[in-house]
Amino acid sequence: MTANVFMIIMPNQRIVVADLQAGRKPDPKYGKIAKQRSTHNNYLTLPVIFLMLSNHYPLAFATQYTWIIGALVFLMGVSIRHYFNSNHARTGNPTWTWAVTAVIFILIMWLSVAPAMSRAEEDLSALPPSVSRFAQAADFDQVYNTVTGRCSMCHAEMPVYPGINWAPHGLRLETQAEVARAARLIYLQAGRAHAMPPSNLSWMEDDERALIRQWYQGVVDSGRG
Ligand code: HEC
Repeated sequence: MTANVFMIIMPNQRIVVADLQAGRKPDPKYGKIAKQRSTHNNYLTLPVIFLMLSNHYPLAFATQYTWIIGALVFLMGVSIRHYFNSNHARTGNPTWTWAVTAVIFILIMWLSVAPAMSRAEEDLSALPPSVSRFAQAADFDQVYNTVTGRCSMCHAEMPVYPGINWAPHGLRLETQAEVARAARLIYLQAGRAHAMPPSNLSWMEDDERALIRQWYQGVVDSGRG
């Protein structure tokens, strides 16, 4: 938008003014070009305002589809603008733009809550047996729920615990594969010791620690045959 103003609209204006001052008849093409760029800018105003405010609304940015959402917002700005432009210029009443806007908006809402694609669940059967045996244990579901409930506010790709900005020690405990892979660390730090959660910040119960011990030891013991 700025480039349109500084590189096209204003220079063209200067050419026209200079022509008029010198008594020449200005070439109308300068006006036409400037008008076209100004129309482009007019269609861009709503998306720009939206993007300026959007950092207040996680629905617009707390997803990895932000770039698609941003692109759709531009289209939506254009469809809304087109309705008002046509209406104000009395060149028509394009109500179809409402439908387009609504469809784009629903698409944006859907993208905003769509599950992340990069963190697709790893195929547990692809894990080496030394890891997958922890995921196959009968009590794994319970363990997994406990760990995601008590640990993943910090040990996550995007931790939600205040002050924790990335997974401590790079240890993520979100997917089943991650929990199975970290079995020994979980067992030692939260099952045997009370080192995790730090100061028991997430109120882990004693029977949850017992469950982790039982899970880990059960798998290891069965491995010994
Ligand atoms: C409040 C945030 C928080 C919670 C909740 C939390 N952790 Fe941690 N965790 C940390 C921090 C911070 C460290 C790094 C500690 C250090 O460097 O001394 C850490 C380190 C660890 C480590 C050491 C990693 C390594 O590579 O040595 C393990 C294992 C661990 N946590 C497991 C767990 C488990 C299991 C839970 C849930 C039962 C849990 N944590 C819950 C913040 C947390």
